[in-house]
Amino acid sequence: MKFFIDTANLAQIKEANELSILDGVTTNPSLMAKEGIKGDKNVKRHYLEICKLVDGDVSAEVIATDYESMIHEGEELAILHPNIVVKVPCIKEGIRAIKYFTKKGIKTNCTLVFSLGQALLAAKAGATYVSPFVGRLDDISTDGVDLIRQIVDVYNYYNYDTQVIAASIRHTMHIIQCLEVGADVVTCPLSAIVGLLKHPLTDSGLATFLADHKRVNNE
Ligand code: E4P
Repeated sequence: MKFFIDTANLAQIKEANELSILDGVTTNPSLMAKEGIKGDKNVKRHYLEICKLVDGDVSAEVIATDYESMIHEGEELAILHPNIVVKVPCIKEGIRAIKYFTKKGIKTNCTLVFSLGQALLAAKAGATYVSPFVGRLDDISTDGVDLIRQIVDVYNYYNYDTQVIAASIRHTMHIIQCLEVGADVVTCPLSAIVGLLKHPLTDSGLATFLADHKRVNNE
């Protein structure tokens, strides 16, 4: 399973990358706004900064919602760097745009996916990735991990190449559950990635090892 970090914060991306297990980055307009990144030039410069930090796919989302503008915006993003993946919302125009980008050899991430039907259309259009939002489904009392399981099963059954990114990950248990149902990628906040390392027995075991070493070596 691949690990992406879901942020536009350069310090967090750098910290996750230093763990040496990072495979890519996803952003969205809200995450860019959170960092105060505004204006076309600054947004593009920021994506390039991210691409310089991480050797892996970097999802950059289009703002346009009509077909022509999505194509124009997506092509401009795609030429920024070979690792840019054009992120497109799962709407009618978006599915058409994904088909266009696929024919052009431009990688895509179909985002804001909340149902198996949407995931099916994304795969049929040839999306490189599909991003079902686990946490946002859980927020409305619907099982987000179960949607990941359904999509993975159907993609495997019909041999779709589209990779499933479990998105809107809130905590470490989401990561573990998505791993168990076969997600290709999880995109998570830094806290959830680092949270995987936490175990009290690791901490107490290490403290004992170090204390024993110190005692015998008279330190
Ligand atoms: C996906 O790529 C999105 O950026 C993201 O995972 C949304 O997560 P949220 O529900 O925490 O905003």
